[in-house]
Amino acid sequence: MSLRVPPPTSCRWMGYASSCVRRAKEAKRHFTCFSNPSSSLPNRNASISNGFPLPGGLEDQMVGYIFGRRRATDVAHSVWKHVVREGDTVVDATCGNGHDTLALVKLVAGESGRGRVYGMDIQEDALRSTSCFLGQSLITQEMELVKLLPMCHSKLAEIVPEDASVRLVAFNLGYLPGGDKAITTKSETTRLALEAAGSIIEPGGLISTVVYVGHPNGREEFETVQAFASGLSTENWVCCKLQMLNRPLAPVLIFMFKR
Ligand SMILES: C[S@@+](CC[C@H](N)C(=O)[O-])C[C@H]1O[C@@H](n2cnc3c(N)ncnc32)[C@H](O)[C@@H]1O
Repeated sequence: MSLRVPPPTSCRWMGYASSCVRRAKEAKRHFTCFSNPSSSLPNRNASISNGFPLPGGLEDQMVGYIFGRRRATDVAHSVWKHVVREGDTVVDATCGNGHDTLALVKLVAGESGRGRVYGMDIQEDALRSTSCFLGQSLITQEMELVKLLPMCHSKLAEIVPEDASVRLVAFNLGYLPGGDKAITTKSETTRLALEAAGSIIEPGGLISTVVYVGHPNGREEFETVQAFASGLSTENWVCCKLQMLNRPLAPVLIFMFKR
């Protein structure tokens, strides 16, 4: 099996890797990229229909969110735990500083070594930050499950091997925290990325979005994500939204489960 990743991408990834090794050498951990993702993933039957009682953590996160004590991303991570299993292939479509990537690696990692996390971002600073964060948080075997790519998520279907079934595509939209706030995700590429995600996600899988409406493009992007989710067929998808009603600038969660 071959990855459809052009050589320059791989080279740049190795650049992040070596840079990260230097910065995290105290931890004596290093980064590698993988080149042979497994296609023989277990066929599990995770679905929202067998989800009660709620799995450990999700109920607490939901209640915490309702009472304003938990962040939208905490809820998203808990929902992921209900969908993603060891050995799965997942995509972090907006790596940023790597917190979501780390959560995903922890979910797919296991003794089988088959889990895969494809992470992408258009900013090299973000990938560098993710790379270093992972280097401080993961052991070498876990790092080997991760591939970071400097690319737009609208192309995400091109980097996942054709025969891989993808369990989760995660979007945490907006700008890089601590970075240039003028560089944000944009409605049009987000829409293309959602379409790409919809084309590769397996039954029982999830497209997870956290949408920030507070930045200049945010409201339009929220409308785009909401329209995309609303337009998915009820036969194949279950879509829902979590939104604070009296905090108009609070992030909105939109989940799209594929039946
Ligand atoms: C809110 S941050 C992500 C936070 C991150 N998931 C974390 O855990 O730290 C949004 C990221 O999306 C990235 N981004 C913007 N447009 C993008 C695009 N078209 N494709 C991929 N990433 C993009 C930004 O550079 C930024 O780093």
